[in-house]
Amino acid sequence: MATNDCHSPAFIVDILDLNDAVSRFLIAVEGLNSKVLYAVKACSLASVVEQVGLGVNGFATSSLFEARLARGLAHGDQTVHFTSPGLSDMATSEIATLCDYVAFNSVEQLRRAGPNFSLERKEPFAVGLRVNPQMSFVEDPKFDPCRPSSKLGVPIEFLAEQWKKDEAAVSNVSGLLIHSNSESEDWSQLEAVVGKCEGLIPDALHACEWINLGGGYIIEGTTDITPLRSVIQRLNERYGLTVFIEPGFGIVNNSCDIVTSVVDILRSDGQAVAVVDTSVNHVPEVFEYQYSPAVAEASEHGEWTYVLAGCTCLPGDVFGEYRFDRELRVGERLTFKFVGAYSFVKAHMFNGINLPTVYVRLPSGELVMEREFTYEDYASRMGVKKDESLRERV
Ligand SMILES: Cc1ncc(COP(=O)(O)O)c(C=O)c1O
Repeated sequence: MATNDCHSPAFIVDILDLNDAVSRFLIAVEGLNSKVLYAVKACSLASVVEQVGLGVNGFATSSLFEARLARGLAHGDQTVHFTSPGLSDMATSEIATLCDYVAFNSVEQLRRAGPNFSLERKEPFAVGLRVNPQMSFVEDPKFDPCRPSSKLGVPIEFLAEQWKKDEAAVSNVSGLLIHSNSESEDWSQLEAVVGKCEGLIPDALHACEWINLGGGYIIEGTTDITPLRSVIQRLNERYGLTVFIEPGFGIVNNSCDIVTSVVDILRSDGQAVAVVDTSVNHVPEVFEYQYSPAVAEASEHGEWTYVLAGCTCLPGDVFGEYRFDRELRVGERLTFKFVGAYSFVKAHMFNGINLPTVYVRLPSGELVMEREFTYEDYASRMGVKKDESLRERV
């Protein structure tokens, strides 16, 4: 099937792009004592997790459902890792049976849930602590794991004291997790974070067996990965640590597009507005962070300017202003590029707008439909029961 024959809107996963992204991370750590995990929160579609799973050493998860999904799709000796600020008592025992590595988010969480884990889990598994290195690189606090009063991880200065004062509390901790960045291509920032850890918590580094450096970084064709390699090498050699990295965005973002159709063109305050059959429902970060995704058919110096607007009644459901070399027509297709991360996983059906149909583009170029959504998916989420109306029950 060609792109023009697929349903609209469509969420298209490109297998070759996905393989390339995975390879870039695997090559970056080649020859070092390091493992690459995929953070499934970025895109949890089974086809993505399975394809990425052909290359990576395991999966990073942050909820019970993600852990179930990852464990179900993991194979061989792939490991499942978990960290969450919201580990509920109810989920604890199942997480313990599903996951191999758990990085507790706080000393309190470790104290409360740690003993249950040891009881539930038959074979040994790895207990870790998430550390907040208290170094901010991200301008927007909505994205910054190290924002003031962050809920994410044990503040490093507190951990430094704790490690000296109360060794019993951390006696079963064999690893540390640090995730402190977002969409950064500058791996020297990670080097600075590790340098701070070496300065403040050297005893913890010596005592542990593994360290997880999190996600938050990308590798493009020209990215300098020297700082990543030298950091891993130092952690391997000086402290004997196995080093995990767990990118999400960096693996999936550039591998998926949304194909949409123009459903109306109108003028408003002298501006041409093209309404498309997708919406910020399908790429919520466009609305949350007010950015404009790239459009394949747009052209920087084109003479036709359009506001591309989503099809819900939310006034701010707008992708941005784009220029084109030609006049747009109702019915034609446009492609939002590089929208794989944090889009489908956050997509919802506000206004009763259906989710995009999911396709995989095979290496041959052929498109294969993976999942189509229907009114029944919407109705069942909204609690419509097939055989009994609310009116009959009250
Ligand atoms: C602990 C942890 N690891 C990995 C990731 C993946 O980050 P990214 O998708 O930016 O690579 C996140 C994202 O929130 C995270 O919180």
